[in-house]
Amino acid sequence: MGSDNTKKILTNSMKKCLLLLLLCVLSLYLLYGWLQKIQDPTAINPATLGNWSSSRRVTILLWHWPFGRPFSLEGDVCWDLYRIPHCRLVDQRSLFPSADVVVFHNRELLEGEKLPLHLSRPQNQRWAWMSLEAPVYNGHLQQFANIFNMTITYRRDADISIPYGELLPKEAESHLEEDVPLNKSFLVCWVVSNYRRQHKRSQVYKELTATVPVKVYGRWTMTPLPSSALLPTISSCYFYLAFENSVSKDYITEKLWRNAYQGGAVPVVLGPSLGDYKAVAPPNSFIHVDEFASVKDLGKYLQQLAQDKERYSEYFTWKHQWKVRLYTDWRERLCKICPQYNSLSQHRVYSDLEAWVH
Ligand SMILES: *[C@@H]1O[C@H](CO)[C@@H](O)[C@H](O)[C@H]1NC(C)=O
Ligand SMILES: *[C@@H]1O[C@H](CO)[C@@H](O)[C@H](O)[C@H]1NC(C)=O
Ligand SMILES: *[C@@H]1O[C@H](CO)[C@@H](O)[C@H](O)[C@H]1NC(C)=O
Repeated sequence: MGSDNTKKILTNSMKKCLLLLLLCVLSLYLLYGWLQKIQDPTAINPATLGNWSSSRRVTILLWHWPFGRPFSLEGDVCWDLYRIPHCRLVDQRSLFPSADVVVFHNRELLEGEKLPLHLSRPQNQRWAWMSLEAPVYNGHLQQFANIFNMTITYRRDADISIPYGELLPKEAESHLEEDVPLNKSFLVCWVVSNYRRQHKRSQVYKELTATVPVKVYGRWTMTPLPSSALLPTISSCYFYLAFENSVSKDYITEKLWRNAYQGGAVPVVLGPSLGDYKAVAPPNSFIHVDEFASVKDLGKYLQQLAQDKERYSEYFTWKHQWKVRLYTDWRERLCKICPQYNSLSQHRVYSDLEAWVH
């Protein structure tokens, strides 16, 4: 009997103990969950949100190929060609529902290609407006108010900036003799196909040629250069007129990056402001027409500089530290969206694209 009683008491206290244990575990579980919640910053900390989403692939859908010229998208293009991970670049419109970004190149929109306004946009999908043209060639953009979430242009303040070229630091400084090409036949050279009297560059050219000789190539003077002859020709000149056909913010094309910097002549630049050039090109690597009170002063400066080998060669010292990188492939420009995807503003609408562009 006594032992039976003891058993009962024991069982009872065991039950109590178990219940207590259960309660303990339950409250610990709840506490743990609560702690997790306050420690889990995805709800509050956007940095971790970025970390979480960076592990997931971003899908970029190109709605139509720029200028109707398609490139192969076989394989993992962004990784295979540019070592950009987690980036899926597609051009099948059927993938619209799964696209994070849909990219529209402006030229085709101008020519009548329609935006898929009839499709319902998945939440968080962004539509991107893309153009490498100067504003004057972008047409009227009023019709695109309140449609796009992103801009992809050569401008530094675009959401995705796709310059024509840039300078990247060299891994090791070099001091090669051939950095300064000194086998020169001409003082100033200009290559121009599309000559328009009203262009600012044409006026500057006319004034300059009154002060110094300017050797002109291109369709305008009926001396077109085959592309293989372009850089060797420029190399034979002390100065190359890297004059843009359009004067607009950040519009700096391959005339600087390729023709002048790779051709080995000192660029005399006309285009955006001196400040825009300074933001992307090292000091003493170019001469801006605005740095002179008059075009005549510019001409005199060029003449003096060509005669002073030491000072002239200083215009090439940037080559010890920097190398030119040209961008010519649309796939590379599009892949560039992925590494910046998580830094895009969470919500953005270009309510007046026309005003932003012009
Ligand atoms: C997320 O962050 C952690 C630590 O901060 C890091 O170890 C991990 O590689 C990151 N994940 C991704 C996909 O970036
Ligand atoms: C210098 O230029 C001239 C004319 O363009 C060319 O014939 C000659 O081979 C060049 N010399 C060197 C060392 O590059
Ligand atoms: C993108 O723009 C559309 C149209 O104005 C807007 O409804 C949507 O909220 C925007 N999305 C983002 C992620 O900004």
